[in-house]
Amino acid sequence: MENQLIYSGKAKDIYSTEDEHVIKSVYKDQATMLNGVRKETIEGKAVLNNQISSLIFEKLNAAGIKTHFIKQVSDTEQLNKKVDIIPLEVVLRNRAAGSFAKRFGLAEGQVFDTPIMEFYYKKDELDDPFINDEHIAFLEIATAEEIAYIKAETRRINELLKGWFEAVDLTLVDFKLEFGKDATGEIILADEFSPDNCRLWDADGNHMDKDVFRRDLGNLTDVYAVVLEKLQSL
Ligand code: TMP
Repeated sequence: MENQLIYSGKAKDIYSTEDEHVIKSVYKDQATMLNGVRKETIEGKAVLNNQISSLIFEKLNAAGIKTHFIKQVSDTEQLNKKVDIIPLEVVLRNRAAGSFAKRFGLAEGQVFDTPIMEFYYKKDELDDPFINDEHIAFLEIATAEEIAYIKAETRRINELLKGWFEAVDLTLVDFKLEFGKDATGEIILADEFSPDNCRLWDADGNHMDKDVFRRDLGNLTDVYAVVLEKLQSL
């Protein structure tokens, strides 16, 4: 059935469409952290994230990355291929920051010669625990071959994204991706790419991402609007 709410997430609601293989993602004016423990309405965030994510996914599609993105259909809505999400948060780090810096007692900013990849198991009731390849195999979340594909694809996406952000004087510090399987069983990039799930620093070291909300550094939408404006100049 068309226009039925399939899933309500923290940042997006997902609706069915007339095509069983297509869903509509509706971005929300909501910011959460600590697995939803802190939740705030931030007017204008939905429009910005939908625009930023649409722009990035269009570029990824054009660069030959297989993604769920079909098209943006309104300020806050986009059409996506329906996938079964693989319950992994794939984190790629170009520099030490956030939980990595904290865990290993490092200052933020150290550059990694080889970007470091991490997996977290997407399971709210467990608070998304850290998970490695052997855990993934044991839990039958993905096969070794699928994990190898996800890793290679994530590194390829990182190289593309790093270049685009560098071109607009932003440093891509780290980010989180999610992958899913489409109706044919193919693994494709899903979810979103926005300052909600990456870290971006400007030339002066200012945080241009959700750390503005997490760390109470100022007005989130002002910062996201600058990121969008920069990306639109690409
Ligand atoms: P972390 O340093 O808190 O582990 O975050 C690493 C990157 O992953 C950062 O860009 C934020 C993003 N991320 C999400 O998008 N969702 C999450 O639930 C977490 C923990 C991190």
